[in-house]
Parts: sequence; structure tokens; C-alpha cells
Amino acid sequence: MEQTFIMIKPDGVQRGLVGEIIGRFEKKGFSLKGLKFLTVDQAFAEKHYADLSSKPFFNGLVEYIISGPVVAMVWEGKNVVTTGRKIIGATNPAESAPGTIRGDFAIDIGRNVIHGSDAVESARKEIGLWFPEGTANWSSSLN
Ligand code: CMP
Repeated sequence: MEQTFIMIKPDGVQRGLVGEIIGRFEKKGFSLKGLKFLTVDQAFAEKHYADLSSKPFFNGLVEYIISGPVVAMVWEGKNVVTTGRKIIGATNPAESAPGTIRGDFAIDIGRNVIHGSDAVESARKEIGLWFPEGTANWSSSLN
């Protein structure tokens, strides 16, 4: 079954959006397979965002991600990568539709509350980085 990596970023944690965000994934019907609350260091954040290392905003992005605790999660379900991105909304909150997480709760692209894997292959890599010990072995009877 398909899995995706979802991270509630430091601004999402600080604004008290953890329950709201988890609720949206749960109510959609996806299964929570892994969850941890942690603060990552610079080397780890640089690894997570390695594909963006040439971008002008890379250093600021890494500083932001290490600025406070995040909630790292693995969610499972049919088409969860694509559907998860729809639940999250466009990267730039100026373009994310109302009803999406970023559309409802974010204004600035640099403080966009949440990260979700953009493809099945990046999900596999990100889950391996954040959950090297593996994820929970259970299946919902609902899907
Ligand atoms: P995320 O889904 O975590 O993937 C990469 C992140 O880079 C993205 O969300 C944004 O937070 C950040 N990002 C992308 N483009 C910009 C930009 N132009 N300026 C600042 N941050 C950006």
C-alpha cells in the first residue's frame, strides 16, 4: 500500500495546528503508520532538503526547519502521495485553495506549515531518512 511522508513544520507546531492537521488526514481515511515529535539538526535538515541545495532560499529553509520541534509522520492509503498533496495545497499559500491546509492556515511560502512528499519515490527516500527503524505494521480494516 502506498505511503507518504508528512512533516508539520515548526510554525505549524507553534501555532497549535497539530491536532487539526492530523484530523484532516484521519478523517479522509488514511492510516497513521509512524509519528514522532523531534527537533532536527542542521545536517539532517540539509539531507532532507538536499534536492534544493542550489536554491537561494535553501539556507533560510534549513534554519527554519531546525528552529523548533516538528511532527514527522508516515501516512498510508490508496494514492496517498497525490491526495496528501491535495489536502496540503499548493506550496505557495498565495496559490493554495481555501479548504486546503495551506489555503486555510498559511500566508508566506517560507512559513507554509507542512511538508508532504511530492512523489512515491521521494516518499520512499524521506520515510527511510526519518524512520530508519521502520514504521508500524498494522492495516486499517476500512480501506
Ligand atoms: P516544502 O513542501 O517543505 O518543500 C520545499 C520548501 O521550500 C517548501 O515547502 C517551502 O517551504 C520552501 N520554499 C519553496 N520555494 C520557496 C521560496 N521561493 N522562498 C522560500 N521558501 C521556499
